[in-house]
Parts: sequence; C-alpha cells; structure tokens
Amino acid sequence: MTAATLDIHLTDDDLTAALRADARLGLTADPKWLPPKWFYDARGSELFEQITELPEYYPTRTERALLERVVDAIARAAQAEVLVELGAGSAAKTRLLLTALSAQGPLKTYVPQDVSSAALRATADDVAAEFPGLAVHGVVSDFTDTLQNLPRGGRRMIAFLGGTIGNLVPEERAEFLGRIHDVLEPGEHVLLGAGLVIDPAVLVPAYDDAAGVTAEFNRNVLHVLNSRLRADFAPEKFRHVAVWDPAREWIEMRLEASEDMTVTVADLDLTVRFARGEQLRTEISAKFRVERLDAELAAAGFATRNVWTDPDERFALVLAERR
Ligand SMILES: C[S@@+](CC[C@H](N)C(=O)[O-])C[C@H]1O[C@@H](n2cnc3c(N)ncnc32)[C@H](O)[C@@H]1O
Repeated sequence: MTAATLDIHLTDDDLTAALRADARLGLTADPKWLPPKWFYDARGSELFEQITELPEYYPTRTERALLERVVDAIARAAQAEVLVELGAGSAAKTRLLLTALSAQGPLKTYVPQDVSSAALRATADDVAAEFPGLAVHGVVSDFTDTLQNLPRGGRRMIAFLGGTIGNLVPEERAEFLGRIHDVLEPGEHVLLGAGLVIDPAVLVPAYDDAAGVTAEFNRNVLHVLNSRLRADFAPEKFRHVAVWDPAREWIEMRLEASEDMTVTVADLDLTVRFARGEQLRTEISAKFRVERLDAELAAAGFATRNVWTDPDERFALVLAERR
C-alpha cells in the first residue's frame, strides 16, 4: 500500500497563536464574533460528518447527486494531473472526482488540504489505500492565510466543495479567489461547489436540525476555547441560533447566552461578560445566485466554463478556467 505524505504548515503551536489573536479580537468586539475555522478540531470534524447525514441538511446529498451526474464532463474539461482540494474534510464526495479524473484523464496526484489535521490525516490515508496508483500529498494549512504552500507542477484543478466558499464574507471571497488565481497557471481550473439562495423554510432547518447536532457543532467552538486557551465557558448555557439574513443572503449561526455570564480566558488574561440574550456570531454561510458567482470569478480573473445545478436549483457546481 502506498502511504500518503503530509505537509504540516500549521503546527499545534501555530493554531494556538492564531486562536489567541482571533479570540482576543472577536470576544472583545461588539457584537462578539469568531471565525468558523475554530469549529474544526477532531470532534468538530466528526460532528460535521454527522451533519452531512441529517435529513434537514440537503447540501451534501444535493452536491453529491449533482457531482454524480456531471463528474465525467468535469473530468473531460479539466484534464487534471493534480487535484488540489481545499477544506477537504473527509473528501467523501471527492472519490467521485478521483475516479472520473483517473478514468478520463491523466490524474497522478491528489492534494487534500484542511485546517483540521486529524481529519486530514485520516482522509489522506484512506484515499491512498483506496486509489493505490495515486500519489496523495496532504497539506495542513489555513486557506484564508496563504495558498503558496500548495505543490506546483502538473496541470491542476483546485476543488472547493461543500459550499465552504459561503463561509467567507464578500471581501474575503474576493481576496481568496484572487489568491487562487495567483497560484494557478493560465488554462488550469477551479471547481466551486456553492449553495444557492432558496426558500428559507428549507434553508434554515439545514442549519438548525431537530436532533441538535448542528447546535453541538456550534457549541464545539466553546470547547475549543476551553481546551486550547484555558477558558471556562459553560457551553450548555449557550443556545444555538440560525437566522437567515435576506438582505445579505446568508445564514448566520450564533450562540446566545441564556443568562448573564462572566467568562475567563486564562491564557489571554481576559474576562468576557455576556448579558442574557447576547449573541456571539460563529459562522456565516452565504448563499449565491449564479450570476453573482460568475461575476466574482470574472473579477478574480477566471472564465466560467460550465455551471451545473440540481433540478431544484439548490446547489451549483461551477467550473472556471484561470485566464
Ligand atoms: C463545510 S466543511 C466541508 C467539508 C467537505 N469539503 C465537504 O464538502 O463535505 C468545511 C471544511 O473546511 C475546513 N476548513 C474550514 N476553515 C478552514 C480554513 N480556514 N483553512 C483550511 N480548512 C478549513 C474544515 O476543517 C472542514 O473540513
């Protein structure tokens, strides 16, 4: 069996340093907020996998069905020798791409990237075992920070699936797409999976399931603060909230304090007060219109080659070429 290799560009110490900076900034802001990457320690990655199987969480199964339908066309168009996947997680759907790219073209290398080292190690090993002819080269890093550490060489396609692009606010998205443009060569491709604007009656339950798994996932950020920065949050005292913002066309996940609380973050020497009902924003999940995705890609220097949507127009896969 060929073993996967793993490049660690984000050590445990780097993660702690980054969390210190984000926690100091976000917990002293008004309103309070934290970036969504801090959900994803080993437990957070497992909870996300559980979310993907919930009846309310339509994005994963919709994107999978769409991918099944169009994966051969993607493989033929991209002719990728190297598939780079940002925020790969368990790469469950990516197996479809790997199979098609191997059958239709010259795929030699798979580069899964993620901030969650536990999830990435498991993914890289599993894919290496399932695809013995493929070189698997995992990268632990932060896609909002730098993409320069991704391997170069070979005709590449960068996949960014699962609607994760929606976790970035518009300014961050523009910067992020610009960076992807900078690491790619003309003629190479990006494949984006993005959730579309749909009826909030379907959308909101996807982020607020009846079994409470998303609530646990949301509260996991408080467990991460407790274990990494010696904070003393009582996660069970925070209520999970998911709201649709129709003006900005995004879902916001928040944690609402159920009583007045004083929290200490020992490693930051910081005391944080929450009033009863106060909310901490933990994630945005923007939903898109196809024209907006196309315009944002064009502004970053990409030409959209194909847009595929599911029959209910809930999710889109966009293949774009770097100009
Ligand atoms: C919504 S999940 C999607 C997972 C998978 N791509 C899918 O389609 O099911 C987001 C993934 O991105 C990773 N992630 C979140 N923020 C990140 C960041 N700033 N840098 C690298 N990975 C990140 C998480 O660990 C998680 O695996």
